[in-house]
Amino acid sequence: MASTTRTILFVKIIAFCVWSTLAATNEDVGLNVYEIINKYGYDYELHPVTTDDGYILELQRIIPRGETGTNRPPVLLMHGLLSSSADWVNTGTHSLAFKLVDLGFDVFLGNARGTTSSRKHVTLDPDQDAVEFFNFTWHEIGYYDLPAMIDYILEITGAEQTQYVGFSQGTTVFFAMASSRPEYNAKIKLMTALAPVAEMHNFKNPIIKLAAKFEGVIEFALKAWKMHELLRYGKIFEVLGEELCDDGKPTQELCKILLFAIAGYDREQLDGAFIPVITSNAPGGVSVGQLTHYLQIINGDGVMRRYNDGKSADLPEAYDLSLISAPVALYYGENDWLSSEKDVEHLADTMQNCVRRRLNSLKAMNHIDFQWAIDVVELVFNDAIELIVEYK
Ligand SMILES: *[C@@H]1O[C@H](CO)[C@@H](O)[C@H](O)[C@H]1NC(C)=O
Repeated sequence: MASTTRTILFVKIIAFCVWSTLAATNEDVGLNVYEIINKYGYDYELHPVTTDDGYILELQRIIPRGETGTNRPPVLLMHGLLSSSADWVNTGTHSLAFKLVDLGFDVFLGNARGTTSSRKHVTLDPDQDAVEFFNFTWHEIGYYDLPAMIDYILEITGAEQTQYVGFSQGTTVFFAMASSRPEYNAKIKLMTALAPVAEMHNFKNPIIKLAAKFEGVIEFALKAWKMHELLRYGKIFEVLGEELCDDGKPTQELCKILLFAIAGYDREQLDGAFIPVITSNAPGGVSVGQLTHYLQIINGDGVMRRYNDGKSADLPEAYDLSLISAPVALYYGENDWLSSEKDVEHLADTMQNCVRRRLNSLKAMNHIDFQWAIDVVELVFNDAIELIVEYK
């Protein structure tokens, strides 16, 4: 009897899940990066790239359907914290990646170590050897992953330079590379920074600022609980995104408030039905160190410094941002709770060759709007593309 009841309940739950999947408002819910690329009419190639410290990364190259020979100028797109390359294509026809392919670029999507498709190493197993595998912050992504991907791209395309576009952490890792391995500046034709994050003297988010005060405790606790990797990709986020955040769900407002509490409040440019598309591939996994490295800077003197492993009483070495000599274009907003306009403007003055600083005209422009705003093409991409094409 009890087992029949349980079976009926189980069938009901499955039926509900199937129904709600079919009921998703946005038809891209549930698609991974490869499926999105195909759906919008492109092909892709997967290129494994091994870093000097043994991580095996997946570089995804988008190709116009049916095209073989390339000889197109390369551009590398690098995603933000907690996310993966899917974020460059999940806005479909609004996607910057597809627009660049259409304009004749050889588009490569990078995936940082530890994320969904770059959770591999030549000797370490991310599950068995989690302590060693996840012993990195965004510094290593900048110091090892970017140079490995850039060198690989230059090698297979025969180009002398590549363009680079980063969103959020995708800009931090670039600044880390360009200041700690300055010889890489010469390999960059143009770097386009969307919602850049480097120095954090004027960090706005009050919740994260408070959390940053407990950075040491948080790190100790997580590691004591053997949590070295956080928010690894899982189907559960897609289901939650859909059940809680889709149009018509009474809890959609909570989802929006949660995003605003991280990124800044902008009711007009966030499409609730798009949240399940985001959670179909994000979060995509981070190391504890990636988070605590940011928290250390927020809670410290705001200067972008190396990771503090607690072994020395002195502040860690600062990144010398004046060594960044590649041409850089900066796109930033006033209402971005994770990147303050004052810090971005200071960065622009510190670097050697800032070629464009564009404070967004939309007052409410928040962090995630630089990737996902309803009008992201008009608000950000059109201007960025104009410059990218100029540097072609
Ligand atoms: C990496 O491991 C070393 C040695 O245990 C430790 O001191 C350091 O804090 C770790 N770094 C990160 C980012 O976890």
